[in-house]
Amino acid sequence: MSGKEFENSPDIDGVARALSQVTLQGDTFLHGDTEARQKLIASAKELVAAAETPVEALLWHTWALPTRTVAARVAVDLKLFETTVQDDGRPKTNEELAAPTGASPALVKRISRACVSMHMLDEKGPGLYVPNRLTHLLSGPGFVGSIIHLFDITQEYRFPKPDNALDGPFQYANGIGTAFEWLANHPEVFQAFYSYVHALRKHRPSWTDIYPVHEKLVNGLKLDGDASVFVDIGGGTGQILQDFRADIPEYRGRLVLQEIPEVIAAATVGPDDGIELQVHDFFTPQPIKGARAYFLRSCLHDWPDEQCRTILGHLKDAMEPGYSKIIISDAVMADEKATWQHVALDIFMIAQLSAQERTESEWHALVESCGLKIAGIYNKGEGNEGVVEIVAE
Ligand SMILES: C[S@@+](CC[C@H](N)C(=O)[O-])C[C@H]1O[C@@H](n2cnc3c(N)ncnc32)[C@H](O)[C@@H]1O
Repeated sequence: MSGKEFENSPDIDGVARALSQVTLQGDTFLHGDTEARQKLIASAKELVAAAETPVEALLWHTWALPTRTVAARVAVDLKLFETTVQDDGRPKTNEELAAPTGASPALVKRISRACVSMHMLDEKGPGLYVPNRLTHLLSGPGFVGSIIHLFDITQEYRFPKPDNALDGPFQYANGIGTAFEWLANHPEVFQAFYSYVHALRKHRPSWTDIYPVHEKLVNGLKLDGDASVFVDIGGGTGQILQDFRADIPEYRGRLVLQEIPEVIAAATVGPDDGIELQVHDFFTPQPIKGARAYFLRSCLHDWPDEQCRTILGHLKDAMEPGYSKIIISDAVMADEKATWQHVALDIFMIAQLSAQERTESEWHALVESCGLKIAGIYNKGEGNEGVVEIVAE
């Protein structure tokens, strides 16, 4: 079995074994044997473990579980559970849930959907919440204390303000700077970060499997000067461009990697691979004018809207309308019942970068506020990144 097959493979024999146990214990329980209930739960967990791929199992432990504890703790301070059960639990909007604490509805929305993902709330339409059995358990004193005590005794806690890139939970924990400045000073952690994002990227559908590259970028490509360039901005150590060259050899334009100096110094590609390296800060004017494609993968989700508008504004100034495209590879969250992978990343974004994953409507709002237009949004599979194509008019 190859690496990718192994990473993507459930344990089929395990599924068959656990399924027969679930059926057996489920029948026994339904016929009145209450003791079989715990066995049913254990078998159901075995079934999930066997049906998951190794990567899904890992991400459940490293993404979902830690972010869930944080989201539950914030939900308690936001009084989400007690507010949701009020008025006989009639459906409530994010604005209504935010009112008792005066919190921002934008933060409430992100924590509420994380609670839905934990079955602590139910969703009845996009952004409309109703209580369930667990909400009732957490709406009064008693069990809610477990969230406060178990969290606060082991972790310092501060209510997050997820819209200021320079004053959020990261700065509270680490002093000044941004997570990228911190990573640049901790090269071993930066290296671990790239090796993991690279492994995860190879495991998932590539943006070139999702987006019609030939139709949109190869056809009509001009081969002179900067017009031929595909530039990967904030492109990490360069493997994305390397894969692009291998997967789409018909793209005969120049490939340019733009990054901060520390990452350019650590790039694993270079002119020998046909890839130009360029130090560039994406908060400054884009030096390559009229390129075919300005590509940003997992970069805009690192920044609040204000900084994203600066990044996109510089690209808008550099684009040739009708020819250049901005291509974003990032999560496009569902407006209702967002997948746990997107929810977990969104909470990580609050904690590490005061940033966010975005829903389709939030992508539209951000892009249109820059005077640009979304030409298409492409998705493949649950919990993966999508592709947002942006054009200048
Ligand atoms: C989440 S990583 C994504 C890397 C790569 N695009 C990928 O998908 O593997 C974000 C990247 O943005 C880069 N970055 C952060 N601040 C930057 C800036 N001001 N200018 C250019 N790149 C920056 C970081 O060095 C980092 O490689």
